[in-house]
Amino acid sequence: MTTADRLDITLGDAIFSLRAIRRIKPDPIPDVDLHSILDAARQAPNGANRQPWHFIVLRDANARMRFGEIYRVAWWAKRNDEGFFKPDDIPDRYKLAMGLADNIGEVPAIILVCTTSPGGRESVIPATQNLLLAARALGIGGTITSLHATVEDDVKELLGLPDGAGVVYCVPLGYPQGNFGPVTRNPLDEIVSVDRWGTSPDWV
Ligand SMILES: Cc1cc2nc3c(=O)[nH]c(=O)nc-3n(C[C@H](O)[C@H](O)[C@H](O)COP(=O)(O)O)c2cc1C
Repeated sequence: MTTADRLDITLGDAIFSLRAIRRIKPDPIPDVDLHSILDAARQAPNGANRQPWHFIVLRDANARMRFGEIYRVAWWAKRNDEGFFKPDDIPDRYKLAMGLADNIGEVPAIILVCTTSPGGRESVIPATQNLLLAARALGIGGTITSLHATVEDDVKELLGLPDGAGVVYCVPLGYPQGNFGPVTRNPLDEIVSVDRWGTSPDWV
């Protein structure tokens, strides 16, 4: 069976129910599903088809735990930049993300979406969205997360990244505790113009 055949929910269902899943069960993801998810990722558009990406899948418990410690440092470094220094400071909008930062080492698979060249960072963005949509089709949830410059060297050492390569996103994946979508987004008439900024069309 091809990956396309395995991803058999409608595209509409996948897009309209894809939301950030941060509370994840520890149950392992089968190899065949990880294969499909990464196979979908590599189909993505990218600059000049250079495909400047590499995906590191953390599955080993020890590797996940060690990465989890770095992730937590990175998460707090980002909050410190915003003036939040301890759990009591954290506003509601970050509470679930803080929970993920505490528990990411227990998520069954963590995919580090890397670029193989400094100019390739934008090209991994569509691949990451493909990855999440494919996961959604298989009942697997996750979210895009980013790290912080302060942990760059630690991450490179832990993962053995070659010169020029870097982690762009960290995507924890697993079976959701809770449900997929819908999401809350601003309406089209606030975000669409026709021909000139500020001219909202009547068809939105
Ligand atoms: C570029 C980018 C970086 C993100 N970084 C983080 C992150 O570090 N931690 C996290 O928990 N979620 C992160 N997210 C997820 C967003 O918070 C999430 O997509 C947004 O709140 C909308 O959530 P929803 O799709 O569930 O409505 C990131 C998303 C993007 C696109």
